[in-house]
Amino acid sequence: MSPRLPVVRPDPAATSEPPGGGPPTLWTRRSALNRLGWWLVSTSLGASFVASLSALFPRVRPTPPTRVVLGRPDELAVGEVSERWKKSDRVILVRTAEGFYALRSVCTHLGCVPGWQASEKKLKCFCHGSGFHADGVNFEGPAPRPLERLAIGLQGGRILVDTARRFRAERGEWSQPAAFLPWPSAAPGKARS
Ligand code: FES
Repeated sequence: MSPRLPVVRPDPAATSEPPGGGPPTLWTRRSALNRLGWWLVSTSLGASFVASLSALFPRVRPTPPTRVVLGRPDELAVGEVSERWKKSDRVILVRTAEGFYALRSVCTHLGCVPGWQASEKKLKCFCHGSGFHADGVNFEGPAPRPLERLAIGLQGGRILVDTARRFRAERGEWSQPAAFLPWPSAAPGKARS
């Protein structure tokens, strides 16, 4: 008499048929692959569509205005070095007995922002120790040249500075008319626009 073999019942969880006896597994897998394929195709088509749109309409970054209106000329006393517009516009406005000039508050060594030291009457850059006189001329530290001056004029009785027009002393540009605003033309009642 041969030994009886144990009866092996199929485990429903291990079968490839979906619960409830649905269609064959091959069909289910094929359909999933189809859906994945369509998803990939539509995603890449969507991405190329967006890329072509961006090429058609390139993003334009607004350029900040370079002409800034400062205070009235009579707001500054003779000898004053004003840092009111240093943070917002990188401008240091200096008043002399003859008129005004605007210094660009960017150190000519490596671009730090110098600050006015009233007690020592100098513009000091603490990054590496450069010092500048109130007229912008460098006299200590590694700065290789004076600070730059900016174009200055009047508009509606207020001082107007164009930060895009710079004048360099070592090129003899400080003597250009736009680099200095003489007091008589800046005096109230003599404003030009
Ligand atoms: Fe001003 Fe170096 S950046 S001294």
